[in-house]
Amino acid sequence: MTTEQSAMERTSNDVHSFAKPAEAVAKHLDLNIDVNFDQKVLSGTASYLIENKTGTDQIIFDTRGLQIEKVFLGDSNEETTFELGDEKEFLGRPLTVKIKPDTKKVTILYQTSADAAALQWLNPQQTAGKKHPFLFTQSQAILARTWIPIQDSPGIRITYNAQVKVPKELLAVMSAENPVEKNATGVYTFEMKQPIPSYLMALSVGDLAFREIGPQTGIYAEPATIEAAAYEFAEMDKMLVAAEKIYGKYRWERYDLLVLPPSFPFGGMENPRLTFVTPTVLAKDRSLTSLIAHELAHSWSGNLVTNATWNDFWLNEGFTVYFERRIMEEIYGKEYADMLNVLGYQDLESTLNDIGAESKDTHLKLDLEGRDPDEGLTDIAYEKGNFFLQNIEKAVGRERFDEFVNNYFNTFAFQSTDTDKFLNFLRSELIKGDEALAEQINIEGWVYSPGLPEGFEAPTSTRFANVEEACQSWKNGEPAAKLNTKDWSSHEWLHFIRMLPENMTQQQMAELDKAFNFTNSGNSEVLAAWFIHAIRNNYTRADKALETFLTNVGRRKFLVPIYKALTATPEGKKKALAIYAKARPNYHAVSTVTLDEMLK
Ligand code: BES
Ligand code: ZN
Repeated sequence: MTTEQSAMERTSNDVHSFAKPAEAVAKHLDLNIDVNFDQKVLSGTASYLIENKTGTDQIIFDTRGLQIEKVFLGDSNEETTFELGDEKEFLGRPLTVKIKPDTKKVTILYQTSADAAALQWLNPQQTAGKKHPFLFTQSQAILARTWIPIQDSPGIRITYNAQVKVPKELLAVMSAENPVEKNATGVYTFEMKQPIPSYLMALSVGDLAFREIGPQTGIYAEPATIEAAAYEFAEMDKMLVAAEKIYGKYRWERYDLLVLPPSFPFGGMENPRLTFVTPTVLAKDRSLTSLIAHELAHSWSGNLVTNATWNDFWLNEGFTVYFERRIMEEIYGKEYADMLNVLGYQDLESTLNDIGAESKDTHLKLDLEGRDPDEGLTDIAYEKGNFFLQNIEKAVGRERFDEFVNNYFNTFAFQSTDTDKFLNFLRSELIKGDEALAEQINIEGWVYSPGLPEGFEAPTSTRFANVEEACQSWKNGEPAAKLNTKDWSSHEWLHFIRMLPENMTQQQMAELDKAFNFTNSGNSEVLAAWFIHAIRNNYTRADKALETFLTNVGRRKFLVPIYKALTATPEGKKKALAIYAKARPNYHAVSTVTLDEMLK
């Protein structure tokens, strides 16, 4: 089968949305909601301006767990009929609203359920300040429909306005133009003028303060955290400058960060104008800020040019990892970016190991039909995607590749695109019939084949060569305390820990711990990697720190490997279940869905 033929069969219909945007599609949302912390519900109206493309008599929205009270048409709010279809696992229920051929506006009166998967309602104890409750949303991939009735497909874009009413002591922020301080009414208004896909709808409510970093950048966080965050992310303005130098003007005006409580299930989420970030990157030494470069990079790859379906996820994440490493290289040099590439390659290898190097889930172009996208989205999109793009860069040179990617972002700005559209663009704008080049780029091998293509050269790092030497001499009997670890960043430490033998004696574990104080590390990446060894080698001196970590931190990337390591033995599994019982109320639904399945 040639690529051209197969491209025809691979159409970009979103199998994770009930909406039929070719018939009737939403263009603008006016959201007006009340945030009720007592009942843990949002209630109000989602009012859409729509385009009826075919003169159809219905428009379909996605919902999951929403209670739909009434639906109105037009400015005069004439009540209309609607129907909620059968519930489908993780997709929810289609909301079919009766419209007229000339209907321009549809207003849905609704309420969320107390267990809406996108929402995490934190009690004061679960925040840094311990005094006020906190709420945040996580819409990607298909959870926006659990807090707004919406056409929940990344192939559909809307602009929005919102009015949100919250308790007077709290501030509300969204993926939009934001207030910088509380007001006496508790009512906040928002505007997002650029069209965005539904998975970028975001809201957070809490006792938040704002701190300016640069002219275009700033940080929202709880007052107890803002100082540490301002120090950690002081270089975010520099990152914005570096990013613009590579791919042109930042199109979203402001770039702010919101530092969330530790239960946030991800490292970061690229909500436009306001990236949501985990406090586990507050390492006090700015060593984990590539995560900010990553979320900032999404302002081009993902938010500006968006994967049309979750099967094209690599277009979002592969480009973003590539761009993240470019930003880090621009600021900290090639040797720094090389370390990130090697760590990324290690992640990729272990993912290939986990899902099997022959699995179709290791293709860049995915087929997630019938599955929850949240379970099918892996490191493959990130790191294999990145290495595919690095491979193209190598083939044509940086200058030509940069020009091409700039052209790509400008051509598809504020649009969605899928794998085939991107590849056609690649052929027409870069390969241009050069057969030798096409062979080198090897689209079929990277995009539609499993594992890594033959001839792929794994990345290397000179700074890691030192780490490997140190690790080797320790294995040869050199005392840990005597190793040359001077000026190591947390990336070097992470590499060192990953290189340690799987099986170590209590004595060896204790020696390392004494020399490097891993168990008490303030660096979450170091801690999480160390705990894996502690669990495997039954190093009980780390037990207390492990339990504290697991009960506080809700970041899925850390939780999954740790719980998995625990469940490898019967005693470990017992421990895991005991900790999970205590910790589960602190985790977001995104994490508990995965862990419930693993620990059942
Ligand atoms: N957009 C993702 C987070 C995401 C992906 C949420 C899929 C839901 C479904 C975000 O940009 C991301 O990739 N975050 C990473 C950090 C990054 C540095 C690799 C994370 O959270 O670990
Ligand atoms: Zn990302």
